[in-house]
Amino acid sequence: MVNHIPEKTISEVRNASDIVGIISEVVLLKRAGKNFLGLCPFHSEKTPSFTVSSDKQIFYCFGCGTGGNVFSFLMKYEGCSFPEAVRSLGRRHGITVEDHQLSPEDRRRMQEREGIFDVNAAAAAFFQRMLLEEAEGRQAMDYLQKRGISRETIDRFSLGYAPGGWDALTGWFADRRVSVALLEASGLVIPQKNGGGVYDRFRNRIIFPIAGISSRIIGFGGRVMDDALPKYLNSPETPVFNKRRSLYGLEVARSHCRATGTVYVVEGYFDVLALFQAGILNAAATLGTALTSEHVRLLKGYVREIVLVYDSDQAGIRAALKSVETFRKENMDARILVLPEGHDPDSFILQFGADAFIEAAKNARKMMDFLLEETIRKHGLSVEGKLRIVEDMTAPLSAVSDRMARSLYIRDLAEHIGVDEVMIAGRLRRIPAAAQPDGFSPLPDLGRRHGVDPEDITARHVKIERKIITMMLQFQEFIAEIDRRALLDLFEDDRLKSIGRHILNHYKTTGEHHVSGLIGRLDDAERTMTVNLAIGGDVWDRKGCLRLLDQFESSRKRQTDNLLQRIEAASRKNDKALLLKLLEEKQNRARERQTIN
Ligand code: GTP
Ligand code: MN
Repeated sequence: MVNHIPEKTISEVRNASDIVGIISEVVLLKRAGKNFLGLCPFHSEKTPSFTVSSDKQIFYCFGCGTGGNVFSFLMKYEGCSFPEAVRSLGRRHGITVEDHQLSPEDRRRMQEREGIFDVNAAAAAFFQRMLLEEAEGRQAMDYLQKRGISRETIDRFSLGYAPGGWDALTGWFADRRVSVALLEASGLVIPQKNGGGVYDRFRNRIIFPIAGISSRIIGFGGRVMDDALPKYLNSPETPVFNKRRSLYGLEVARSHCRATGTVYVVEGYFDVLALFQAGILNAAATLGTALTSEHVRLLKGYVREIVLVYDSDQAGIRAALKSVETFRKENMDARILVLPEGHDPDSFILQFGADAFIEAAKNARKMMDFLLEETIRKHGLSVEGKLRIVEDMTAPLSAVSDRMARSLYIRDLAEHIGVDEVMIAGRLRRIPAAAQPDGFSPLPDLGRRHGVDPEDITARHVKIERKIITMMLQFQEFIAEIDRRALLDLFEDDRLKSIGRHILNHYKTTGEHHVSGLIGRLDDAERTMTVNLAIGGDVWDRKGCLRLLDQFESSRKRQTDNLLQRIEAASRKNDKALLLKLLEEKQNRARERQTIN
């Protein structure tokens, strides 16, 4: 991909951004020595292996091998392109990346996304004016009042009103010469079936603007004010709106989630508003979908525990049971709050008050208790029922990796249904334990390969080569020394050799040796290996480094010289058998090098 943004602008933006600050906005980080540590947002893990280095301005996850600089992080986290990452970071620091500095494809994509954000912002302001200032908004205001929504809440959540008719918004945008294609892309208008025109998607509805993590409006929800159907309508999926990854109200709730370590996940827009008015500011709603893994990973950046508040009707219970599966997969602590029959948080608070809700929330059940109780309720305590309960609980119980916790849960189940716990435990043992994603090692330990002698030597050299690259990444002073002695030419591992060359070139052309600046030059595999080596906590001393360089140089030279010399001698003596053997060995070595790469 041709990169049209000048190198100078890129490094200016990179230098202005602090990776720890950027990442800690969305990941809970704790200081650990020189680095920061947190739960990886890119895979599910229980023990933090996601590492951010402040002095090197890079991140690396020892669990899944994802790593890079501040741009790599944004690209991966927000799913955007490199130029978008540069541009959005640039915007924060007042560094402009001009449109013409982008490739045509990137420019088109980015202009569309930003166009949609602009249209959404303008539409939200339009809906808000309709609610607060126009006569048509009167009935909407009355409706909100009837439901107990205060003016403060209306303002904080920027609620609005979409007028009836077909073209209130369409007409307003037409007057401002906004392109119809862009309006369609935003999902706010729908093309007419016959004829070329478009009409408003949201008509005569209360409007809930939905903000994304960047605080910009990504989509809308709208509710009718009577019994018309559908009761709720959401924006369709667009380049900036993905329901599986968005939660209503999170933008408002974020800081309170951080402060409390907990989030209430509810089902509806009005539930979020009701909780907010009850002083429970750490609440967010799914958008008509069940809770997804993406939601949980997003929330992991703010909280240690999720309290799921779902309706106690059948659909609500089913959705909660489904979420249990997601929580387990994502290793997220969760509790489930089931409100009395027929209540959601909004109606519960209206009837019983905020304190009653807080009291009920304290009694939210742990996931496994909830699961057990629901399973018992489902099957009953007949002999048949008990067998089914044990069957249903087998998978969830065997997924509990903490053995102490598992045995306590088993005892609990045994007591509830009056079956010997040894029998249950015995049944569990027949199920293979769930595969643990933790402990995946992206780099095999090369020092421990078995086999014949030359392989060992090669493995030892590759190990030293890794150290040499680490040295280059950590200490500028060795780069020139390694270059002078042409040590990279002696490398057996092609990837390490290539990384070394990139470090050298980067140093020679820019005069800097900072890892985060180097990353743009590397391909994915090289980048992963590089950040891994750079972020490691090795302690070095200058003398040790020089000794290692000497050792590597002489050993490598001896190895190659030796073989080449012997081949030469054998060919001089015309010893065909020996020559064949030596050539074979040379070939073997080349092959080994390939396997290692
Ligand atoms: P109120 O009746 O206004 O209190 O809403 P509620 O949140 O109590 O309603 P309900 O439990 O029926 O819906 C919960 C959530 O599901 C809503 O907030 C919407 O996000 C979603 N939802 C409900 N009905 C519809 C629908 O007809 N279409 C779509 N797309 N989503 C819906
Ligand atoms: Mn409701």
